[in-house]
Amino acid sequence: MTNPSIKKINGDFKDKDILSTLQFSKKDIDILFDTTDKMKKLVLTKGGSDILRGKIMTALFYEPSSRTFGSFVAAMQRLGGGFIPLQGMTNSSAAKGETLSDTIKTFASFSDIIVMRHPEVGSVHEAAEATDLPVLNGGDGINEHPTQALLDFYTIKEELGKIDNFTITFFGELAHYRSINSMPKLLYQYPKIKMNFVSPKQVGLSKETKKFLQEKNIRFTETEKIDDVLSETDVLYVTRVKKEFLPEVLYKKVKGQYVVDNNMVKKMKKKSIVMHNLPRIDEIAIEVDKDPRAVYLRSEMKNGMYIRMALIALVLGKIK
Ligand code: CP
Repeated sequence: MTNPSIKKINGDFKDKDILSTLQFSKKDIDILFDTTDKMKKLVLTKGGSDILRGKIMTALFYEPSSRTFGSFVAAMQRLGGGFIPLQGMTNSSAAKGETLSDTIKTFASFSDIIVMRHPEVGSVHEAAEATDLPVLNGGDGINEHPTQALLDFYTIKEELGKIDNFTITFFGELAHYRSINSMPKLLYQYPKIKMNFVSPKQVGLSKETKKFLQEKNIRFTETEKIDDVLSETDVLYVTRVKKEFLPEVLYKKVKGQYVVDNNMVKKMKKKSIVMHNLPRIDEIAIEVDKDPRAVYLRSEMKNGMYIRMALIALVLGKIK
């Protein structure tokens, strides 16, 4: 953990920036998941509450987003808070050339918490340094997407009924997919989780994440062939080829190489799951959506709202 703006949670979420999954210990994950269970129950029984009445979140999205933006906004509203929605930034003064630091200071004047997505690595750290308000990372370039990793891990726990002792296979374009950098930095703490990384060679696991796993002495495999690991896989974690971050020649080469269809899912364990952060382009055939193991449309997305409700409430100190 080299960046000074990353602070460990250490059981106390209040006023912390959430920039990286490296901030979370196993105890912090337990606190967050227990709170998320309560948020889910709250929504299912009462629709929400007003514990965040009087609080405002700025949602500052310099990059397109449906799920992260929508679920953060819904999370705030479900808990009685308000929000300032900035999506695309074309209608803000960022379009006139305002610096990120000034933009953050501006919205910090009006709100209590900021969630942000930005195309540049390091942008969320710059934002966190510009304000005392908590800044939540909704995706920074090809670096991290910590709340996505947290909701995915929560979904795995819910669907498999356990938090350890399973095999997860990351499948597709891994080099530019930010949750592929965030997930291993959570999962490495659980000694019985095995991680496989399956990808075309040109877009494999990032050097930084590979180095991290090696330094922690974590057991993992890398291969180009899904058949090497499919039968042992409990969680198939499928990725999109990130057109926005790839040179066109490489995008054309990699696109459509790794596709999940019913023939592939048939070879998986009966009790296993297929995940995808979405949006999906053509990495998972539509026919797979009906398989009970496909959780990307059934539970993974909704869990994004529950986990973000829990995170906002904890960071704003409205839940102990
Ligand atoms: N999973 C995810 O981050 O989706 P969006 O890009 O739609 O927010």
